[in-house]
Amino acid sequence: MSERFVPVFDARVRSVPLPPAGGAQLPLGRPIDRLGRRLHDLRVSVTDRCNFRCTYCMPKEVFNREYRFLPHAELLTFEEITRLARVFVAQGVEKIRLTGGEPLLRKDLPRLIEMLAGLRTLDGRDLDLALTTNASLLPRHAAELQRAGLKRVTVSLDALEDEVFRRMNDVDFPVAAVLEGIEAARQAGLPVKINMVVQRAVNEHQILPMVRFFRERGHTLRMIEYMDVGTTNGWQLGEVVPASEIVARIDAQMPLEPVEPDYPGEVARRWRYRDGGGEIGVVASVTQAFCRDCTRARLSIEGRLYLCLFASHGYDLRSLVRAGASDEQLSAAIAGIWNSRSDRYSELRGQLPPDEGRKVEMSYIGG
Ligand code: GTP
Ligand code: 5AD
Ligand code: SF4
Ligand code: SF4
Repeated sequence: MSERFVPVFDARVRSVPLPPAGGAQLPLGRPIDRLGRRLHDLRVSVTDRCNFRCTYCMPKEVFNREYRFLPHAELLTFEEITRLARVFVAQGVEKIRLTGGEPLLRKDLPRLIEMLAGLRTLDGRDLDLALTTNASLLPRHAAELQRAGLKRVTVSLDALEDEVFRRMNDVDFPVAAVLEGIEAARQAGLPVKINMVVQRAVNEHQILPMVRFFRERGHTLRMIEYMDVGTTNGWQLGEVVPASEIVARIDAQMPLEPVEPDYPGEVARRWRYRDGGGEIGVVASVTQAFCRDCTRARLSIEGRLYLCLFASHGYDLRSLVRAGASDEQLSAAIAGIWNSRSDRYSELRGQLPPDEGRKVEMSYIGG
């Protein structure tokens, strides 16, 4: 074995006992966890690969040629993803976000979107079907994604200054090509939000240029506190720019007022420009934890159910699916897992004992 060998992500897996067949009733009520939280969003990671190497997410020292990404046979098929998604939707999920790695690297992604777009919420509405992407492949795929039934996209872009962005994505990818991707999505009729991860002394000077640029173009920009996801990015508290500081800097130039959340548990805190020119959001997972409203479940590439973004283990749903579990059995298993949930990492950050398992990587679980 090479000295630089880095194993495939090896978080502990929890196997899920197969609930009894026949006797298991599809739970009619929506599951509620031990902290009173409902299940509203499902985030589905479709690949652990990415064509970028953002230094805060997939540092090159780890995600290099020797890194073993998951082999194709390990991935959930589109049919398996759709089957599980249908069971989640029957339990009250109304929003599905496809993530990666870079989800557009997964072959035939529009086919999966078409399959998911056929699902309806419990009260018969379309799902809020969204995609998080680095936009590099949007010029080629935006129109097709929209036709397949995608409702909106969120583009990750951390700087407008080309040199800064190239340094952050670490593959020398130019800003202009991301802007082309954003434009392609807009022209295809897909609403676009922009995610900017803010790091002290790296791109904090890009906050105001980004705000001005996207305000003029009518796209909502969300600034995200750099988080201690995974174990490979070498996160330090000193690299976090607190959301309060981000808001104060913008407010000093373009006065802001708070906006009520769109729905309970919304990740970003929203602010609107007092002059009526649109809004921004800040995601303050480090300085203003929002765990008490956490309504998100995460389905990993190979079918493990993770609850918290900072979890070190997932529940193996793929084995249930491949063992022939019925929808009722899957539903009972998922409800059982959700009902026993009590995690709230961001609220407890710093007070938790170091876990013997490795926290899941962002590129594996998709945020
Ligand atoms: P909208 O539906 O457009 O509001 O987006 P979203 O709430 O799905 O958020 P998005 O996927 O764009 O994520 C924004 C940032 O918040 C990313 O950095 C995510 O990793 C982070 N994030 C999303 N959900 C959670 C969560 O439950 N906990 C924490 N700590 N961070 C989260
Ligand atoms: N902290 C905060 N946000 C992150 N993202 C990736 N890694 C981190 C991190 N360590 C962002 C990506 C993407 C979203 C899903 O999460 O930029 O927009
Ligand atoms: Fe790829 Fe997104 Fe991670 Fe950057 S943040 S390396 S674009 S998955
Ligand atoms: Fe939810 Fe975990 Fe994020 Fe808290 S830290 S909001 S529990 S995913």
